[in-house]
Amino acid sequence: MANAIEITNYSWAYAHGNGKALKAVNLSVEQGECVGVIGPNGAGKTTLAYSIDGLVPGQYHGIKEGTVQIQGREVEDYPKGMLQREVGLVFSDPEAQFTAMTVEDELVFGLENLGLDIPEIRERLDWVAELTGLGPLLQKPPYEISGGQKQRVALAAVLAMRPRVLVLDEPTSMLDPLSRKRVFEVLGQLRKVQNTTLILIEHGLEHVVPLADRMVLLAEGEIALDAPTPSFFEKLDLLHHHGLHVPGAVEVVSRLKNSGRYFGELPRGVEDARLVIQEIIDASSTKQGAV
Ligand SMILES: Nc1ncnc2c1ncn2[C@@H]1O[C@H](COP(=O)(O)OP(=O)(O)OP(=O)(O)O)[C@@H](O)[C@H]1O
Ligand SMILES: [Mg+2]
Repeated sequence: MANAIEITNYSWAYAHGNGKALKAVNLSVEQGECVGVIGPNGAGKTTLAYSIDGLVPGQYHGIKEGTVQIQGREVEDYPKGMLQREVGLVFSDPEAQFTAMTVEDELVFGLENLGLDIPEIRERLDWVAELTGLGPLLQKPPYEISGGQKQRVALAAVLAMRPRVLVLDEPTSMLDPLSRKRVFEVLGQLRKVQNTTLILIEHGLEHVVPLADRMVLLAEGEIALDAPTPSFFEKLDLLHHHGLHVPGAVEVVSRLKNSGRYFGELPRGVEDARLVIQEIIDASSTKQGAV
């Protein structure tokens, strides 16, 4: 079976851009895999998201080299509207996504376009409203809700379509900590239940690290690092060089590992880190006891 995403020697230059936004990118993502993408401003993260969703080259002029395949098929070769059944994209700017008069219509719009029957639309609407906590807002016009609520609507509209590949470009930038945590719980659930492929572009790594199998660092349009999450964060110098913030707990243990005081995998969060540090303390006190 073809990979969910297969990007080969892919470069993209916007018609009015300053050189190539993406340069000779190679990236294979299997169905069900979760890949976190980080990189400084202007690194090409959004361009990568657009390229997977076909907005580039569909909605933008520019020069493309190489190939971007979704489920084994080049993005431009999908008949109109068909790629959107495979790939859902949640933008960081939710406003750009709204077209309907109420939140409910916004959610239903995409489902009607999929040609689903009314009972199926009803079932998905209830499911997604429950999942994202939007029930009380369904009859509101999208312009009367807060930025964070808009972001939840944008996410819900895409989730309702149940794409096999979900690309999220800073989808929680306007959410409060609790709502953000909930979104990542939902993504974790989707992965488990529907084997959704996830591409997570996020500056805040706290929630990405526990979920991502792999991390990709984009810098100046190139993939500077692509590694399983635990070994990705061992490359502290490279990450710092690009001005990226590594979660504190991960950084502490990564330093212990780099200095030869710890040999296991890096933790995915504070809880794991606590266990690792306890392990290191126990090992060193046993050593001292033996002297
Ligand atoms: N529509 C466009 N036309 C011309 N150049 C563009 C366009 N959109 C983006 N670029 C350029 O392409 C490069 C990559 O931009 P992109 O938006 O993909 O970066 P990013 O990693 O998403 O940044 P951020 O963290 O700020 O969201 C930048 O140099 C940017 O100026
Ligand atoms: Mg961006």
